[in-house]
Amino acid sequence: EKGNYRHFMEKEIHDQPEGCQHTIAAYIDPIAGRARMAGDVDFAALDRIQIVACGTSYIAGLVGKYLIEKLADLPVDIEIASEFRYREPALRPGALAIAMSQSGETADTLAALRLCQAKGLKTAAVVNAQESTMAREVDVVWPIHCGPEIGVASTKAFTAQVSVLTALAVAAARARGRIDAAEEQRLVRILLEAPRLIAESIGLEDAVKAVAVDIAKARDVLYLGRGPMSALALEGALKLKEISYIHAEGYAAGELKHGPIALVDEHTPIIVLAPYDSYYEKSASNMSEVMARGGQVVFITDPEGAKHAPAGAKVVMTAPASDPLISPLVMSAPIQLLAYHVAVLKGADVDQPRNLAKSVTVE
Ligand code: M6R
Repeated sequence: EKGNYRHFMEKEIHDQPEGCQHTIAAYIDPIAGRARMAGDVDFAALDRIQIVACGTSYIAGLVGKYLIEKLADLPVDIEIASEFRYREPALRPGALAIAMSQSGETADTLAALRLCQAKGLKTAAVVNAQESTMAREVDVVWPIHCGPEIGVASTKAFTAQVSVLTALAVAAARARGRIDAAEEQRLVRILLEAPRLIAESIGLEDAVKAVAVDIAKARDVLYLGRGPMSALALEGALKLKEISYIHAEGYAAGELKHGPIALVDEHTPIIVLAPYDSYYEKSASNMSEVMARGGQVVFITDPEGAKHAPAGAKVVMTAPASDPLISPLVMSAPIQLLAYHVAVLKGADVDQPRNLAKSVTVE
C-alpha cells in the first residue's frame, strides 16, 4: 500500500531508514559489535569474489567492490550478467560467485550464476525475494530484508543491497585478519548509524524539489563522482533516465578529460557527488573545470565539503556528515529524490515507466 504517498517509488525512498535498519539487524550483532554473514563461506580461504548482476543491482555490487577490496584486501570482479554469460570468463573454484538481484528472477543474472556453478564455484545470492529461483539455486542466500519493492525504479533495494555488502566487507576483513576486534566494533557502530543518517539525508527533499525544476528543463545531465561516488553517479543517471526520460550519464570524475567534458556548456546541469573524504580535493577540482566551461553544478556534499566548496556552484546541497563506510548509503537519497521529483514535474508515470518491467525474466 502507498499510504499517504503519491507513488510507490516515493514511499520506498522514504522507507529506507527502516528498511536499512532491518537489513543491518540481520547482518550485525550489536552487542558483540560483529558483522555476521550466515552460511558456510570461509572468507579467509577465498581467492576472489565474482559479482554478477544487472542495472541497479550491478551498481550496488560496484559499491561493494570498493568496500570489500579496501577493507578485506579481497579481489572483487564484477560484471554485467548479460555480458558475462555469453563470453568465456576465466573462472576458478577458489572464487565465490555472488549474484545481486532484487527479484531473484532476472534471466541474465540467473544464467550467469548457473555458468559459475557449472565451473565449480560456490554461489551466493543477495536477493530481496527469498522464494525466488536464485534463492533456491544458490549455496548461500543473503536476503536484503527491505520488504517488497513495487516501483520499477529500484531504491530501497539498492540501499539494502549496499548494506549487506558493507557488512560482508567487515566480516571478510575480520576473517582475513585485516581488522582487530576493536576496529570491527568501531565499524559496526558506524554502520548502525546509517538508518538515522539516511533519514537526515531524505530531509533534503525540499531542496531537491527546488533543483528539480531546473533539471526537468534539461536535455542532458551529467553525474560525476570518484570512488564509491562514481558508482552513485551511475545510479543517479540510471534513475533519471528510466523515470524522467532525460538523457543522463554518470562518469568517474577523473574520466571527464577523456571525452565527456566536450559535452559541457551552460545548458548542461552537472550533479557532482563528493562528501569530504580522501577523493574530495580531486572531485572539487573536476567541479571547477566544468564550471569554468559554463557547466551548471549541483554539488551534493556534506558540511565539511560545503565549507571547502569551490565558488561558483549553482546549488550546494549538504547531506549529513558520515564515515566513508556508509557515505554511499547516506548519499543515495538525494539522487533518488531528484529523479523522482523531475519525473513528477514532467508528468511521467513514475512507478511504471515506459518500456520497462520490474522483473526482466527474458533476455
Ligand atoms: O531484480 P534485479 O535486481 O535483478 O533487477 C535488475 C535490474 O533490472 C533493475 O535493477 C533495474 O535496473 C531497475 N529498474 C533500476 O531501477
